[in-house]
Amino acid sequence: MRVFLIGFMGAGKTTLGKEIAKKMNLRFLDLDRMIVNDQGRTINQIFEEEGEKGFRKMERKVLEKTLESDNYLLACGGGTPCYKDNMEQMNAKGVSLFLDIPEEELVRRLSRNQASRPLLRNLDRQELIEYIHNKLEKRQECYRKSKIWINPLSTSVDTIIMSLRYS
Ligand code: S3P
Repeated sequence: MRVFLIGFMGAGKTTLGKEIAKKMNLRFLDLDRMIVNDQGRTINQIFEEEGEKGFRKMERKVLEKTLESDNYLLACGGGTPCYKDNMEQMNAKGVSLFLDIPEEELVRRLSRNQASRPLLRNLDRQELIEYIHNKLEKRQECYRKSKIWINPLSTSVDTIIMSLRYS
């Protein structure tokens, strides 16, 4: 089985993904982490040196390679589903699960945690609020291609696992 965790930065893909993977006996993979290991550079460095376009190409390459193996849960980056046909590729190979977190909660989480994220690190509070709002609106279209949508704030891990098993 292949599970793809989809959602905006701060949605909890890594934290929740680890828990779900453990309970489902799947390998936990983190796409950002795999890119960092592959490149020997941080995500911030890659954005600085190659731009977002360069990063997306690397992300796509690592995703394609990952699709060749099986039995894992992959925590994607927030922008992964919106580049080329990444979302269609994931849906063809496994189950995508969208962590649909309310916008105010994303603002709350991301304002505490901006520095490690190249797309957010230079924004002041008002810019951050606007960035999240606009980006989320643009990305909804790809996020909504996910097979399962849940709000993790009101759904238990066991219920999420049931939805994945019966998908
Ligand atoms: C990005 C999200 C990040 C990372 C990169 C770009 C985005 O991953 O891939 O900084 O475009 O939303 P997380 O969602 O894991 O923070």
